Amino acid sequence: MILQDGTFRQLRDFIYEKCGIYVPDTKKYLLEKKIGARVQARNLGSFEDYLVLARSPQSGDELSKLFDAVTTNETYFFRETQQFDVLLDNIVPTVVEKRPSKDIKIWSAACSSGEEPYTLSLLLADKKPGLRPEILASDISEEVLASARKAVFGSYSIRNVPPAYLQKYFKDVGWAMELSSTIRAPVKFLNINLIDDKKIRTIRDVDVIFCRNVLIYFDDKAKQKVVSNLYDSLRPGGYLFIGSSESLHNVTRAFRPLTYNKVVVYQKV
Ligand SMILES: C[S@@+](CC[C@H](N)C(=O)[O-])C[C@H]1O[C@@H](n2cnc3c(N)ncnc32)[C@H](O)[C@@H]1O
Repeated sequence: MILQDGTFRQLRDFIYEKCGIYVPDTKKYLLEKKIGARVQARNLGSFEDYLVLARSPQSGDELSKLFDAVTTNETYFFRETQQFDVLLDNIVPTVVEKRPSKDIKIWSAACSSGEEPYTLSLLLADKKPGLRPEILASDISEEVLASARKAVFGSYSIRNVPPAYLQKYFKDVGWAMELSSTIRAPVKFLNINLIDDKKIRTIRDVDVIFCRNVLIYFDDKAKQKVVSNLYDSLRPGGYLFIGSSESLHNVTRAFRPLTYNKVVVYQKV
């Protein structure tokens, strides 16, 4: 089955419109492979038929399957670990200082299979035991969210977890490691498309957002929309972490960049 250039462009525009992910010409082969599998799964004869199905209101959960297919879900515990150090040493104390309730609301936006929000939960439980964290974790892919809720992780995911934490917070289930319920409890998983303004409006008064390693898949226009949505979800003075290889250059000037130990954090002003 061949993905014709014209159909590729239509599929690309459709994906962009629905989730902000922009597939460049150089990645056409990837779309051909990933959507080719969906064409077969739905017993269709061509990419053109698939496009008709995906656009149709009667497509069932095909849009969700399409999101599963086109997203890149690479993640692992303690990824870009200096950012977590800055969170614990510099941001958390400032946020809870004048808050007798000691509650803190953190959002891992684009959490993939859960390693990022669970790293946050683990570190807060271990290093800041007096706090009452609420951790929202969201993604557009149902497949990774289902896996996140199971909280069972293979060796690749946990390779950076310090051995003491592995012993304290994970249980060996033979082929993988299961995370303890203490660490799972504060994390609530939701399906949120970051370019869906209506959905994002339901998330408010967040103290800290982690939105890492997802902006790279968007073009500048989609980045602007997403970052503006995140801005609105933060409390005044709230903080945004993005991936260390990502930047808000050309995206927004609404945040004040702060630097701690070479880690840049963006503060809502
Ligand atoms: C590479 S993973 C990053 C996971 C984690 N934040 C990290 O840094 O390890 C990117 C995630 O973004 C999600 N994603 C892509 N487009 C999205 C959108 N429009 N809304 C919400 N999540 C999206 C993907 O499903 C994927 O799980």
